[in-house]
Amino acid sequence: MEQNTHYAMPRIGDKAPEFTAVTTQGTINFPTDYAGKWVILFSHPADFTPVCTSEFMTFATLQPEFEALNCALVGLSVDGLYSHIAWLRTIKEKIVYKGMSQVEVNFPLIEDITMEVAKKYGMIQPGESSTKAVRAVFFIDPAGTIRAMIYYPLSMGRNFDEIRRALIAMQAADKHSIATPADWRPGDDVIVPTAGSCGVAKDRMEHQEGMTCHDWFFCTKPLSAESL
Ligand code: BEZ
Repeated sequence: MEQNTHYAMPRIGDKAPEFTAVTTQGTINFPTDYAGKWVILFSHPADFTPVCTSEFMTFATLQPEFEALNCALVGLSVDGLYSHIAWLRTIKEKIVYKGMSQVEVNFPLIEDITMEVAKKYGMIQPGESSTKAVRAVFFIDPAGTIRAMIYYPLSMGRNFDEIRRALIAMQAADKHSIATPADWRPGDDVIVPTAGSCGVAKDRMEHQEGMTCHDWFFCTKPLSAESL
């Protein structure tokens, strides 16, 4: 691979760029190894750094919850495999943080010393750093399509509540053909697709069965957390 290969920034709706990489859990072929699952692919600036350590411990602690949502976690940082192994061992053996201790990281952490994967995913943003990946979070659906992205600067740890909420909201949208309003949380009312004809708009305003219509284009309905 040439050093100066230029990659376009991935966008929502694009197929997740393919790669084969060495990780702390062996070699992975991405995204084919994850067909049928959601994946959260996230990047870190570097191993043995404090914000990254707090985030890694949090991701590892939440991994069972993400697995229950049919979602695999895959991390990346621009460091080598032995650095990754040493860092994960240190986390397990020494770091106690916010009630988390002896945290074992069982999801793959990609070695990306050449920055090839990071560049493919637009994780190297030179205004922030030309050698460290920003804190990117890619949500990739079971068909291998990028569905959402969140980028954070180096100085800012991610909000894991939001990462979990975003995943559940996209799964709910797919399963129930709805949209989710501002600050939606599981169990809150959801948005019914906007009326596509004058007849449906009129009907909704006159009957509103099972819905609350604030106007013809803005109707909500209950959706229980259990049905997500
Ligand atoms: C950190 O993870 O602590 C960190 C990494 C790069 C720059 C600043 C902070």
